[in-house]
Amino acid sequence: MALPQEIKPLNSELMDTLVQAGKMEWTPQPFDPERSFVKVLWTGAESGSWAVLLKWKKGFVAPPHKHLSASHTFILSGKLQVRDGVLNAGDYVYEPNGMLHGATTALEDTEYLFICNGAVLFFDGDKFTSYLSWEELRRAEAKAKARGKSAKAKPAAKAATAPKAKPKTAAKGRARAAA
Ligand SMILES: [Fe+2]
Repeated sequence: MALPQEIKPLNSELMDTLVQAGKMEWTPQPFDPERSFVKVLWTGAESGSWAVLLKWKKGFVAPPHKHLSASHTFILSGKLQVRDGVLNAGDYVYEPNGMLHGATTALEDTEYLFICNGAVLFFDGDKFTSYLSWEELRRAEAKAKARGKSAKAKPAAKAATAPKAKPKTAAKGRARAAA
């Protein structure tokens, strides 16, 4: 029996996104690469929305900020000092577009899911310091990947400067390096 109306998507390029976060590396965040890490789960280039997992080491302090869009937070583990309250594992927070927030401190090593509909603007005293949107997240991820690749490439580069072996052995070495 046919449905009472057509529900087939007009956009034939629609696609679900599945991310196995457990298999991803944590990317250090530029403002505190020792204590703040992110896994980018999804970014919407057209909507500007993004979904990330954040890991903050105990003692990390996120600076004051203004939400330029609404966001959803779900604490997976740890403890965050947020203004006059403490967020614990299992807590959910909705932050509306326009909210002005003071610093947030990780009281313990903390992991949380953060889904945001746009940018967050950070400030310090009377000056803006930076903003975070899906583009900054993807740029940081690309830089971290490039650094990882260059670090992995170093041993191969050393091998290239090693004393020359017999022609047959050298040919084998090149073949392995290219694989
Ligand atoms: Fe906030």
